[in-house]
Amino acid sequence: MQTIHDVETLRARVRAWRQAGRRIALVPTMGNLHDGHVRLVQDAVNIADEIVVSIFVNPLQFGQGEDFAAYPRTLEADRDYLGAVQASLTLFAPSVKVMYPDGLELPTRISVTPLSDRLCGLARPGHFEGVATVVAKLFNLVQPDVALFGRKDYQQLQVISRMVRDLNMAVEVKGVATVREADGLAMSSRNRYLSADQRARAPALYRALCMISERIQAGERNYATLEKIGCDQLAADGIEVEYLSIRSQGGLEPAHRDDFDLVILVAARFGHARLIDNLELRLNRPG
Ligand code: PAJ
Repeated sequence: MQTIHDVETLRARVRAWRQAGRRIALVPTMGNLHDGHVRLVQDAVNIADEIVVSIFVNPLQFGQGEDFAAYPRTLEADRDYLGAVQASLTLFAPSVKVMYPDGLELPTRISVTPLSDRLCGLARPGHFEGVATVVAKLFNLVQPDVALFGRKDYQQLQVISRMVRDLNMAVEVKGVATVREADGLAMSSRNRYLSADQRARAPALYRALCMISERIQAGERNYATLEKIGCDQLAADGIEVEYLSIRSQGGLEPAHRDDFDLVILVAARFGHARLIDNLELRLNRPG
């Protein structure tokens, strides 16, 4: 595995791959890799010749008081882990200075509103602008044919897909199914912030999503009531819910009775950790 830290070396590699007609996949990450990230890499291996995994904790997407400084940076361990999965990939691990040579007051930013303002965007103003901007930069640097993102970060996947469509970016965005622990908890680098007690309670998020999904599949359509039941169930487990919402899949608007492609999304705080999860649900169209 080759690790690249600078733009010039990366560009030279990409040029050579392009000239050789190689199909390039990009898996953007912030590191501290787990089996969820690895699933993205494995899927990339099946659809491309060259895989670039980027590891960059992007300051632009963290708000004031968020965990930018504390975010786990484990480059050596990540490299070993990736090497065991797939030896022939390229790791791009730039510094903040390499990604933002002129500082963080970037005059050029990408905003995907109003998609980015709802749900997680309410609690994290500017977050998706930071995500879209860094992903656009990574797309320009790596020039991938395909880029893989987890469906666990559902709103992020929608923001990126919308950016690519609106700006005619020549990259195919692929969403990859959420990888979970045996008890249902979605894998996340932030799970390591959980105390033993919080970790034991965290799978309640997925249970609440499954409960709501089952009730919708059984014919319930009063979404406000279902959201309230879910919130109450989580509150009874001592979980501080930020939102629990039933939305339409593409635009993430509050779901109506006549929407068939739904997603149930949840965000909750466990002390310092903020966890998110979601469950997609397709209802049969009548007739
Ligand atoms: P990070 O949280 O490191 O996640 C990197 C990618 O892994 C994202 O596409 C995310 O959705 C996916 N992922 C994380 N946990 C997953 C799980 N349990 N199952 C499946 N996929 C999972 O998301 C980011 O980094 C950043 O915002 C980034 C896109 C890199 C931009 O900075």
